[in-house]
Amino acid sequence: MKDSPFIYGTTVSVHAFTNREVETQKLQSNLLNGINTMLISPRRWGKSSLVEKVIHNINRKDKKTKTVIIDLFSVSSEDEFLELFAREVIKASSSKWQEWMSSGKDFFSKLMPKLSLGIDPNTDFSLSFDYADLKKNKDEVMNLPETIAKQKGIKFIICLDEFQNLALFNDYVNFEKKLRACWQRHKSVTYCLYGSKRHMMTDIFNNSAKPFYRFGDIMLLNKIEHKKWVRFITESFEKTDKKIDAKIAEIIPQVMKNHSWYVQQLAHYTWNITHKKATLQDVENALKELIQANTPLYQKEIETISVTQLNLLKAVAKGEVQLMSTAVMLGYKLGTPNNVSKNKAILINNDVIHEINNVYEFLDPAFELWFKKQYFNSPYLS
Ligand SMILES: Nc1ncnc2c1ncn2[C@@H]1O[C@H](COP(=O)(O)OP(=O)(O)OP(=O)(O)O)[C@@H](O)[C@H]1O
Ligand SMILES: [Mg+2]
Repeated sequence: MKDSPFIYGTTVSVHAFTNREVETQKLQSNLLNGINTMLISPRRWGKSSLVEKVIHNINRKDKKTKTVIIDLFSVSSEDEFLELFAREVIKASSSKWQEWMSSGKDFFSKLMPKLSLGIDPNTDFSLSFDYADLKKNKDEVMNLPETIAKQKGIKFIICLDEFQNLALFNDYVNFEKKLRACWQRHKSVTYCLYGSKRHMMTDIFNNSAKPFYRFGDIMLLNKIEHKKWVRFITESFEKTDKKIDAKIAEIIPQVMKNHSWYVQQLAHYTWNITHKKATLQDVENALKELIQANTPLYQKEIETISVTQLNLLKAVAKGEVQLMSTAVMLGYKLGTPNNVSKNKAILINNDVIHEINNVYEFLDPAFELWFKKQYFNSPYLS
């Protein structure tokens, strides 16, 4: 049997990647033209995948531009960031380990990085600094890509995923100022900054009191359109010798509200239980299976919220719009108006709900289905 054509849980940049033509074009052109770009969207709509796709395209086309993607997910201090940044930039600057090893004297004047080759010298090496020296000369690392680019006559595109993690460092305020001051002078380096904590990202880039305000273009990534998902699903079934009619396929993005991760997950489960041709029953069973698989996560989510927050979620699930009206506050036991606005802010900040045209919506469509079943016994497919 062929492998599933649907992928979730890791980024998709080549095989299961679909659509995003306009966004790919725009991001690619920005990065090749030296326009720093920040990518913002709710969780799991496809930021990391889009960046990988664009970098993959650039690597194929343009050998003079060196690209770096660094995931800052597990980086927890400034020193760790600077070491990782230096290592990845050096690694991307050349394919020869001899050049990596000489980078200390070639590209640094005050700092002396300790460099050593990894188990496979062709693919890896480690780098560390003396922390006392690093503290005094961090701008040397922040400026490293520009230094290398100038010396070698190349360009860099540097993509930093989970960028908002930097804001958790001690003394981030000063670090952020210094970083911005260095990076804005770079002529041969373009930055692409993105991350999954939308509110932190927005605060870093959209707050006029912060150093990274107007650092570049902000791209707000939208969802992939419904009709494009339908085509992707029917074609992917066909490629793997199965069938799904468009009218069945369209249920998948519809119940998942075009949410990239969940469309792929539900399409995968459906594909998996389809023998030859998918039926409505297959989609229903797949949906049940998907929600069951995610239930522990959803239960945990509920455990972390207060009773009044839970009640507020119930009101949102019921489509209430006037959350501050007396009827809604009493009917759902939401507490005082102050409670309502505080709880609303918490749920929004934690990416549980968001506001679109004055209406509140769940961000996670499968969590919403689970929630409505749990508290109102609503069927998954109505
Ligand atoms: N262009 C695409 N075509 C098809 N599926 C996609 C696409 N983009 C994203 N996906 C699906 O969505 C999932 C999440 O994508 P990705 O990890 O890129 O999102 P993200 O916005 O970076 O998420 P997070 O906010 O959690 O970092 C992928 O695993 C894949 O299943
Ligand atoms: Mg991501």
